[in-house]
Amino acid sequence: MKYSAVLLGSMALSASAFPAVMQMSDAILKARNLEQAAELHKRAEEEKRQLPDPTAAQALSQARGNCGVIPCTVFDATEQYVSNTGEHAYASPAADEIRGPCPGLNAAANHGYLSRSGILTIENTIEGLGAAYGMSVDLAGFLAAYGIIFDGDPVAGTWSIGGPLPTNQITKGLLGQGQGISWSHNLYEGDSSIARPDAYLNNGDAHSLDVDRFRDAYAATDSRYPGRYTLDSFAQNFAKKSDESVATNPYFFAAPFSTTLVSPAAYNFVINFMSNHTAEEPNGYFDGEQFKTFFAIEGDSPADFKWLPGQEKIPDNWYRRTSTNQYNAANVFTDLIPSFLAYPSSFKLGGNTNGVNTYAGISLADFTGGAYNLTTLLDPKGTQGACFLAQVAQAGIPDFANLPLQQITPVTDLINNFLTPIAGDLSCPEVGAFDQTLFNKYPGHTYRPTGPDTNY
Ligand code: HEM
Ligand SMILES: *[C@@H]1O[C@H](CO)[C@@H](O)[C@H](O)[C@H]1NC(C)=O
Ligand SMILES: *[C@@H]1O[C@H](CO)[C@@H](O)[C@H](O)[C@H]1NC(C)=O
Repeated sequence: MKYSAVLLGSMALSASAFPAVMQMSDAILKARNLEQAAELHKRAEEEKRQLPDPTAAQALSQARGNCGVIPCTVFDATEQYVSNTGEHAYASPAADEIRGPCPGLNAAANHGYLSRSGILTIENTIEGLGAAYGMSVDLAGFLAAYGIIFDGDPVAGTWSIGGPLPTNQITKGLLGQGQGISWSHNLYEGDSSIARPDAYLNNGDAHSLDVDRFRDAYAATDSRYPGRYTLDSFAQNFAKKSDESVATNPYFFAAPFSTTLVSPAAYNFVINFMSNHTAEEPNGYFDGEQFKTFFAIEGDSPADFKWLPGQEKIPDNWYRRTSTNQYNAANVFTDLIPSFLAYPSSFKLGGNTNGVNTYAGISLADFTGGAYNLTTLLDPKGTQGACFLAQVAQAGIPDFANLPLQQITPVTDLINNFLTPIAGDLSCPEVGAFDQTLFNKYPGHTYRPTGPDTNY
């Protein structure tokens, strides 16, 4: 059905006088929205059909070791051992120490690699994540800067690994009081996580662990390596969980940064950052015991699993990835590519339009005004990934004209020093404007719960 602009216009004019007409006009607008979403979805599907055959891609996905597309070839026990004693002894967070949705950050804070307060600066983030996990300076700086800009305090230069920043600070975040990554739905935190529920399905709380979801991931071992997890087995778990989000969450929405990229990257982070390394296996391996320790799960068998909030730990006698192959921002994308190509349904940009099972996608070409398309973005030999990550991270930054003066310089500095540089000297496609109006068709797009000041 098609409705002319003239008809819609006249209805809008008379709507306030006639409530019944207004209802009808809403219904017509909704129908038109759904019709447009269906058109867009067709183009997104067509874009996916251009991708190479997934069977070949699955072999490539399976061939990856636990250090990612670029293998780790050396092991040095002294360099890679991560102390969890002395100044790095485990301590549960005190009442005023903040923990949140990220087990990697929680564990590092519980062992004093990151400030035990849970409020971090960029310098602390870079230093702590390099020492504990072998994360590169560019990636840690990028992730921290994003947290400062969107959920933190750009003037103080701080961000929270959990709930809202303490209110005794003088300055405010860019989008109001910095809510921390616990309350960053659609900004940082996204749907289809490993062990955290979709925000909408849990009253906005997407940072507390759901034991059933953990059990599901715990069962996702790689059939080739009994009891162990790999990038490929976790890519399959992500594909399954992202389809489940479509089937269960009417507000499922894959925003380009949080759910399209960060959610699947978190699955890869488990393997790349939490694996234990040995001389025999310099790429490392990841098993159920490590999984439980890092995710604060106790209990011997899945039926007995219990989550201990805020008690994530670095295992005893654990060796991180080698510093000769730190994990950087470009690697984040090169590890997403084989997963998306092998399991194309797991690439989602878009969401449910009208209740569960009404997923409509948006093609990259439509979203980027033709600057990108899926084939070139996911080309394993291509270099667009870091560009896309850097650009899409900036897409949601409010117009500078609307910012208080005191925020402009700090935000510009964060962008120039930590967001843009991850693209290196690549010549990136030029995007006129990311068409965020396309998101208006998704009810989950504007869902932004804020939360209580809890410490995890
Ligand atoms: C500055 C660095 C980091 C930031 C800002 C960050 C932020 C986040 C955020 C916002 C989430 C929630 C995303 C979602 O909804 O799934 C998350 C989840 C996660 N992160 Fe991090 N993270 C960082 C570093 C790390 C590191 C170093 C690791 C691994 C050692 C890690 C592992 C994970 C995992 C496994 C999840 C998913 C948890 C679950 O679903 O139960 N992250 N992180
Ligand atoms: C990690 O690997 C080392 C050998 O490099 C081994 O001795 C240790 O027990 C392993 N640690 C864990 C937590 O599996
Ligand atoms: C994708 O973009 C590249 C480079 O701009 C172009 O050559 C190619 O034809 C496009 N592919 C599709 C399927 O549109």
